[in-house]
Amino acid sequence: MSIITLPQLIDPHVHFRTPGLDHKEDWQTGSKAALAGGFTTVLDMPNTKPPTTTAELLEQKRKIAQKDAMVNYGFHFAASTDNWNEIKKVRDKIASVKVFLNFSTGNLKIDDDRILEKIFSVSPIISCHAEGEMVELAIKLTKKCGNKLYLCHISTKDEIEYIKKNKTKDIFVEVTPHHLFLKNENIKDGFWEMYPNLKSQSNVDALWQAIEDGTVDTIGSDHAPHTKKEKQQDDFPRGIPGLESSLPLMLDAVNNGMLKLERLIELMSTNPTKIFHIPIREDCRTIVDMTLKKEVKNENLYTKCGWSPFDGWQLTGWPIKTIINGETVFDNNSINNNFRGEEIYN
Ligand code: DOR
Ligand code: ZN
Ligand code: ZN
Repeated sequence: MSIITLPQLIDPHVHFRTPGLDHKEDWQTGSKAALAGGFTTVLDMPNTKPPTTTAELLEQKRKIAQKDAMVNYGFHFAASTDNWNEIKKVRDKIASVKVFLNFSTGNLKIDDDRILEKIFSVSPIISCHAEGEMVELAIKLTKKCGNKLYLCHISTKDEIEYIKKNKTKDIFVEVTPHHLFLKNENIKDGFWEMYPNLKSQSNVDALWQAIEDGTVDTIGSDHAPHTKKEKQQDDFPRGIPGLESSLPLMLDAVNNGMLKLERLIELMSTNPTKIFHIPIREDCRTIVDMTLKKEVKNENLYTKCGWSPFDGWQLTGWPIKTIINGETVFDNNSINNNFRGEEIYN
């Protein structure tokens, strides 16, 4: 069968940039990228300007999404060095509390162990940007504090090995398509740079192995758009867009025998619903054509940034319809601009 219906597809890791960084992406362009990429649901990251560190700022973001979101959505909330009271106010109405243990876009890195322990102990689930030894710290903190931990964009063999030894039922692992399909030899310029950066083939192989053996729980695109102009500067920001290439890359991998379709559904639908308490909705579905062969082309993208490191890649297996809350919102490249999505946690 070449036409297949998939259950609601969730991208648990997108940066829609509103407020403050709307020149890179906004809820309308980000939603369209999600729809064209076959996603019914996205979870938005808090490193906006200002970052989402208070209940009031979350409320402001909510208003913007209510007006503009054309997919279903939820929000991750940002931890800062002193906002645990704000975390307590919002913790039932968010996907997770995001903690940066390494430097990344937005200056939200926290490195005081006592503060980290406090944040972990008031947050039912933490999403962590942790690389290398910081993965070990995150796991130690979560075991001590008894909460859940979602490790974003794991990218190395060493991290995978440590996680495999120390994983519990409350620890979850995300990998991105770019760490699965690109490697450091491919890096040409700023358009190929993100945090964590691209790794060597042996690390890429370890990620695929971890997909096969069940260590990996989700695929998150880490859709992190920056403009072409910003990327061409000497001091370019890190991050690449991913919403429109994530599913086609994974479907192409299914066609190439690199993973089974059932595993793709676990990684992109079933597991994110369980980890982030997203209600299962039968009226959210994506129709894919497993035999459709198409090229990723910068000029066809809906993301505001208008480029992708996968430009020119021929992929087989593409979403043709995205159905949300019973409505066909994306249909063979036409988008119903009047549709508005719903917030999951409010
Ligand atoms: O490359 C990245 N870009 N990594 C991150 O952790 C943040 C992201 C962004 O917001 O641009
Ligand atoms: Zn990150
Ligand atoms: Zn991110």
